[in-house]
Amino acid sequence: METTLNILNNAPIGTINPRLYGHFAEHLGRCCYDGLWVKDQQGKSSFRSDVLTALKALPVPMLRWPGGCYADHYHWRDGIGPQDKRTRRLGMSCGLIVEDDNSLGTHEFISLCRQIGAEPYLAGNVGSGTPQELCDWLEYCNAAINTSLVQERRANGSDKPFGVKLWGVGNENWGCGGNYDSVTYAKEYRRYATMLRHVDPSVELVLGGAGGAVGTPDWLERWNTELIQTLNRNLDLVDHISIHVYWIHGGAESAFTAEEYYGLLGEAHHTEEAIKNTAQMLHEEAGNRKIGIALDEWGVWHPEARPWGPGQVERRDPITYEQANTLRDALAAGIALEGIHRQCNVLSLANLAQIVNVLQSVVNTDSQRMWLTPTYHALHLHTAHIGAQALPVEVAQGDSLPDGTSAVTATASTSPRGMAVTFINRHYTDQATVRFKAAGKAASGKLLSADKANMGNTADAPNAVHLVDLAVNRDGVDGWCVELPPHSMATVVIA
Ligand code: AHR
Repeated sequence: METTLNILNNAPIGTINPRLYGHFAEHLGRCCYDGLWVKDQQGKSSFRSDVLTALKALPVPMLRWPGGCYADHYHWRDGIGPQDKRTRRLGMSCGLIVEDDNSLGTHEFISLCRQIGAEPYLAGNVGSGTPQELCDWLEYCNAAINTSLVQERRANGSDKPFGVKLWGVGNENWGCGGNYDSVTYAKEYRRYATMLRHVDPSVELVLGGAGGAVGTPDWLERWNTELIQTLNRNLDLVDHISIHVYWIHGGAESAFTAEEYYGLLGEAHHTEEAIKNTAQMLHEEAGNRKIGIALDEWGVWHPEARPWGPGQVERRDPITYEQANTLRDALAAGIALEGIHRQCNVLSLANLAQIVNVLQSVVNTDSQRMWLTPTYHALHLHTAHIGAQALPVEVAQGDSLPDGTSAVTATASTSPRGMAVTFINRHYTDQATVRFKAAGKAASGKLLSADKANMGNTADAPNAVHLVDLAVNRDGVDGWCVELPPHSMATVVIA
């Protein structure tokens, strides 16, 4: 079947802010400890250089840390000073309780961000913290005048302030972050935000909203509206409101049926609805006050990697929050990114959950071995869009999926580097011939594909799913044509 796409070059949607390509590193399972941050045989910890090289190449423009649910138990003072003297605490998130030596603390996280070129985003503790504790962390990170906290930062090796702009005021405070009701959390937020702004008026504060994923209960659907209504005359304290969207209805991580394949892709597509609904609510409740939507956790969460929720499959015992990552997951990420681009005027940041080993990780490790997941390749295929102007794409004609939606979808952008188009052939079994027009002299293409949609990479077969060159053929004046295998994704850059 042939597909014809129209790229509306004269109607840019907006800028694809690099913050929309953020990632998330939580102290959960083997994401931070034993993923990013490892101990050598002498017991000395450091970041894994092979992981950092891969992340730098991805790229990772922004990184959220230390949680997640972990954030509302985190006391930042535990993670500063000489590593061997740091407080050992229970590391708690999502039901896991581990011994946390706090060797990966604020200085180490900032150093990680600097090494990979990421903007830091710190998630603050509301559930078991105080406004003063969070104000102190902000002062420690950002102040330049000679306070005791600044002297302490200097003594710990950082003369210059870290200049952290993004601060989350708690995480999922409707649940793991304290089981607040919306009005109580909104009032807590107001107190925290007021005090934080006194310490550093230039920070951007993130209000802890709720999901919007398929199946969100009514009371949680109302959470965001109630927060905004309660904060009413203090909405100047809110720069972003967070939403988390996990896809949980796609059946088994790799032994899925064709119906479940389409189910997961459909759920990923729904991510855009969650953003649009939040934007509509903000339009109705916040009026002219510009509040960005922070999709600061998104991705697939397979049943094998959680003890709760739908999925008639055996759960991993114990739950480690690690899961298979297949080509299907990579396509789902690409579908979410199409929506993220379309909503780039209302979405202010986004973080794929999570960066290493946990959930929809881009990099996995096993002792000395490290490999890139299909999701890594999917994101890497989107590099040309980062910072570019998003362009609308219309499907003029083409094949359909069983639910009647288009089999081939695409996102496009333009920048001084040229026009980039990322295509997804969502069809499970059929290939697609895709034609489109774009002025330019030369085209290059890369394809992400595999024989089966449930293929992934492992320590033993790290390159089973990888990028290959894609032929981009001329098709009349300013026209181009590509052939996409079933269940595949490709990016073409025309310059
Ligand atoms: O990413 C795993 C968990 O999912 C996070 O800790 C929490 O914020 C969310 O529920």
